This record gives sequence, structure tokens and C-alpha cells, in this order.
Amino acid sequence: MRILFVGDVVGRSGRTAVIDTLPGLIRDWRLDLVVVNGENAAGGFGITESIYQELLDAGADAITLGNHSWDQREALVFIERAPRLIRPANFPQGTPGRGAALVETRTGKRALVINGIGRVFMQPFDDPFGVIDRELNACPLGQAADAVVVDFHGEATSEKQAIGYFCDGRASLVVGTHTHVPTSDHRILSGGTAYMTDAGMTGDYHSIIGMDREEPLGRFLRGYPAGRFEPADGAATLSGVAVETDDATGLAAKVAAVRIGPLLERAVPDFW
Ligand code: FE2
Repeated sequence: MRILFVGDVVGRSGRTAVIDTLPGLIRDWRLDLVVVNGENAAGGFGITESIYQELLDAGADAITLGNHSWDQREALVFIERAPRLIRPANFPQGTPGRGAALVETRTGKRALVINGIGRVFMQPFDDPFGVIDRELNACPLGQAADAVVVDFHGEATSEKQAIGYFCDGRASLVVGTHTHVPTSDHRILSGGTAYMTDAGMTGDYHSIIGMDREEPLGRFLRGYPAGRFEPADGAATLSGVAVETDDATGLAAKVAAVRIGPLLERAVPDFW
């Protein structure tokens, strides 16, 4: 299978990059599965139902979230009728929506997509390891699922790497999100799971993690807010990771960084 994971889509600029670029990538790379982190898609904060639909229309098979899941309050309601929208699995019991979903891809494959959220330098949610373990065991790779993608939304590189090794051999891809800065450590772990500490954002990199620079810089200088965070509105770079799996096992055979757009060095897989 050919999998593309697209890092945190930030605001209108990020959405435009997805809408303009993704359909061509799906066609040219003959992608089987596209997973997009959409937790910053609505003005940098959360996701609306119409944006959820917009990302699906652009070719996403599943959309994952994170700490900004509920910034748009409507998400608490519409997630129940949005089967391809996945919020962190280790949110408290009773939280609306689902933390994992087995989705049918455009090419008729079964993909298990799991979203988890870290606890280091973040709100202390439930233990992500136990919850992810249960989801992986309930739907084993190569048996119940043709591919398994884990989006682990976290601040600490150590916690993300720990999740990667914890899932090694049981997932096609474990990818970190949330920091909005792509790492260059994408690789295949010894058990066959592709791993990248952070996919980076799909947004305007002439910014402070996707936001117009003035307010975040001012907060560091003054120590207090003087306004709202607004997403930067320059051209976005689509950032993420591409994986080709072995069809017999669902494990990763190849992995590559993806960066398409201004400012960052271009990266595309050389195997497609
Ligand atoms: Fe986040």
C-alpha cells in the first residue's frame, strides 16, 4: 500500500495547499491511503464540519486531531456523524467521537487509524500506551487491517519515540504531530514500523509555528497577550511522510519525508 500522512493543516493557507496539491499527489503517486491531521485547520484552532468535508473532498481518507480537537465547539457534536474524524484515544471516557477507526480507503483497503495524545509538557490525559495497545490488539495488522497508522500528538520527542518503539511491528507507520516542525529522523524501526518524530505542519513556515509572528513574538517579549493568535496567510508548504508497505504483512518497506512548497527544502519519495 502507498500511504501519505499530511502534518497539521494550519488555517486557510494550509487548507489551500491541501486542496491544490493533494489530488495531484493521489493521482501521480497512486496513493491508497491519505491521513491528514486537521486539528488546526479552522483558523489555527480546531475543525468545523465544512472543513472536515473539504479535506475529505480533497482526498483524505481519515482526519486526526489533538489538543485543539474541541476549539470549534461544533466538533463535539458533528464528530458523532463524522466516521473518518478521529480524536485522541486517551481522552477521558465519555468524550464524544472515537480514538480509532477502521476506514475503507479509496482503493478498497482496510486501514486502522489511531490518534493518541502525549502527557509530557501537555495536559495529563489518560495513559496513551494502554489505550493504543488495546486498539492495536483489537485490530491486528496483516489480519484485520491492511495498514495501521498511529498519529501521536505530542510535545516531547522522547515520548513520541517511546510510542514508536512500543508500536514497532504492530503498525505500518507511527508519526508524531503537534510541534509543527518536521524532523529528519524518518526511518523503519527493527520490527518494520515506519517512524517519524514529527510530520511538520502544512502551513506558512514564514511564521511562528503557523501563526502570524507579531503576537507570539510579543508575548515572549512582554510576557502577556496583546491580541489573538492569527494564522499566517502566506503560501503553505505541505509537510508529511510517505510510506510504502509490504502487502503481505502491512509493515513498512520504504519511508520518505514529504515537503512541497516554499521555504523548506523540497522532499518527495524517490520510489514512486
Ligand atoms: Fe496540537
